[in-house]
Amino acid sequence: MTKAKGGSGRGLSVRVKTARGRTVGQAAWLRRQLNDPYVARAKAEGRRSRAAYKLTELDDKYHLLKPGKRVVDLGAAPGGWTQVAVERVRAGSPGGGKVIGLDINAWTPVTDATCLTLDFLDPTAPDVLKQALGGPADVVLSDMAAPATGHGATDHLRIIALAEAAWSFAIEVLAPGGAFVCKVFQGGAENELLKLIKSRCGVVRHAKPPASRKESAEVYLIATGFKG
Ligand SMILES: C[S@@+](CC[C@H](N)C(=O)[O-])C[C@H]1O[C@@H](n2cnc3c(N)ncnc32)[C@H](O)[C@@H]1O
Repeated sequence: MTKAKGGSGRGLSVRVKTARGRTVGQAAWLRRQLNDPYVARAKAEGRRSRAAYKLTELDDKYHLLKPGKRVVDLGAAPGGWTQVAVERVRAGSPGGGKVIGLDINAWTPVTDATCLTLDFLDPTAPDVLKQALGGPADVVLSDMAAPATGHGATDHLRIIALAEAAWSFAIEVLAPGGAFVCKVFQGGAENELLKLIKSRCGVVRHAKPPASRKESAEVYLIATGFKG
């Protein structure tokens, strides 16, 4: 790896030599990580992931995570969103809210959150989450994404299947007035899901926060004012 002067006036950028054993794709990923300001910021600020800034930016705009709120975070590992949710709802403080995070992969628990390792598509997952919640939720977040296959249409369908499962769970646990935030991909196949969500929520928007990479097809669906 070598440091070189960036040509765009943005200071030093890091060039990655294609080392033996590293594919071109891996080298490109590493180069992107090393030159990504959100990655550097996450490291400096003790965030578990650069994804933390996507939720921060969405919440700065839509104000969903208020002190005292009860939040479920699906696809939570390594815990960037969970950290942001804990801080914003003041989980662990007197009168503060509650945060339950779940991921299929093992993850290090976030202080003041309940952190579960479980496949959300497992038939037992909704009940395990409901038990951990012990009451209705104000916000259901889903940043779930299955590992990319490299085949766009397949990846799109898999993310929509996760989004549909997240919405089915959300309608069971959300309190009236609650909010649902979910990662989807730009493309047509979520139209059916969108129709369902619109029929149960006051306002439904799509948002792409600045921290979401431009080249990524991901967008976030923000549904507020759940009608019950
Ligand atoms: C983009 S990452 C989430 C990043 C996280 N929001 C953060 O801020 O650190 C997507 C996550 O979805 C999880 N995931 C994918 N399929 C899942 C499933 N069926 N059940 C639970 N989690 C799942 C993955 O393991 C991965 O950790």
